[in-house]
Amino acid sequence: MTKVLVTGAAGFIGMHTAQLLTAEGYEVIGLDNINTYYEIDLKYARLKNLGISKEHILYNKEVQGVSGFKFIEMNLEDAGNLIALFARHQFDAIVHLAAQAGVRYSITNPKDYINSNINGFFNVLEACRTFPVKHLMFASSSSVYGNSAEAPFKENQMTDSPISLYAATKKANELFAYTYSHLYSIACTGLRFFTVYGPWGRPDMAYFMFTKAILENKPIKVYANGLLKRDFTYVESLVKGLQKLLEKKLNDPSGTMPFQILNIGNSEPVVVMDMIHKLEGILEKKAIIEYLPPQPGDVDSTFADITQLQRTIDFDPHFALDEGLRSFANWYKSFYAK
Ligand SMILES: NC(=O)c1ccc[n+]([C@@H]2O[C@H](COP(=O)([O-])OP(=O)(O)OC[C@H]3O[C@@H](n4cnc5c(N)ncnc54)[C@H](O)[C@@H]3O)[C@@H](O)[C@H]2O)c1
Repeated sequence: MTKVLVTGAAGFIGMHTAQLLTAEGYEVIGLDNINTYYEIDLKYARLKNLGISKEHILYNKEVQGVSGFKFIEMNLEDAGNLIALFARHQFDAIVHLAAQAGVRYSITNPKDYINSNINGFFNVLEACRTFPVKHLMFASSSSVYGNSAEAPFKENQMTDSPISLYAATKKANELFAYTYSHLYSIACTGLRFFTVYGPWGRPDMAYFMFTKAILENKPIKVYANGLLKRDFTYVESLVKGLQKLLEKKLNDPSGTMPFQILNIGNSEPVVVMDMIHKLEGILEKKAIIEYLPPQPGDVDSTFADITQLQRTIDFDPHFALDEGLRSFANWYKSFYAK
């Protein structure tokens, strides 16, 4: 059985990834430090979905969840225990999703990004060098394109001008991974995710905060007159793409490229104000809008060119935003009705 380490498994994309991979017959070890960047009850609820009860979680102890899934609470900065985990399991592949996410938080809390995204990522690379894996996939971000890229964003465009520390750490990850891939022949795929949304999502993201505020009759903060454009990517499509890539690389070890950077996005940018109108329709309530100036670190627009992705796995991640927002809203209402 193919054994995969999914880091960030208590996170939004990590939970969906672990769910899909276990359903597809992979043996999955999920790792997360369950940090308090946002409500940890949501992280525990995601783990519950994977058969892990909060009471059984202990630092550095593997806990059995649903068939094919084990969870370990661990901090990626804990190099010694991370190496020991790699030694115990001899993973076939790594899907590295753990990171300090969020552009705005990086303006006020830069150190968290250095700890998780630089030091943590370095430890993952070192562990892959010491206990070789067939494929290391890791999450990069559309934010690496900054404000100077030409839409739609192509992987070979200049990404030397990140406008937030978050983006800079993701770009640094791509560079570190390239070097490790080159020096130690580690097959590596860095995936530039574009605004991923959906059920079990992240409470710090706009669509989530807007839904909460609209339902609670509170004002929503809309930056830059709602004119920012985002390429909203539905989480279930995204993780299907991750699984296809994983499968392809594991079945084709000789591969064409040991190192690759790929965009994975819906490839249909939407103006934030239009997203708000869609939410209003779905929630059957008007938003109370507070317009605010643009935020430092926010890029004006994102738009994925997915030609390379489609060439690699013959997969179209496109999913209609109305449908995706509706399934998010349904999840939100039932989750918070408890
Ligand atoms: N959601 C998006 O729109 C989006 C867009 C671009 C890139 N990404 C990237 O995708 C990945 C997953 O994002 P997400 O939206 O699921 O975020 P998330 O915050 O829900 O998940 C990340 C998880 O990683 C864990 N984590 C953080 N630092 C850690 C550390 N040092 N050791 C162990 N665990 C740690 C957190 O506890 C969290 O559960 C991240 O790398 C993020 O930067 C996400």
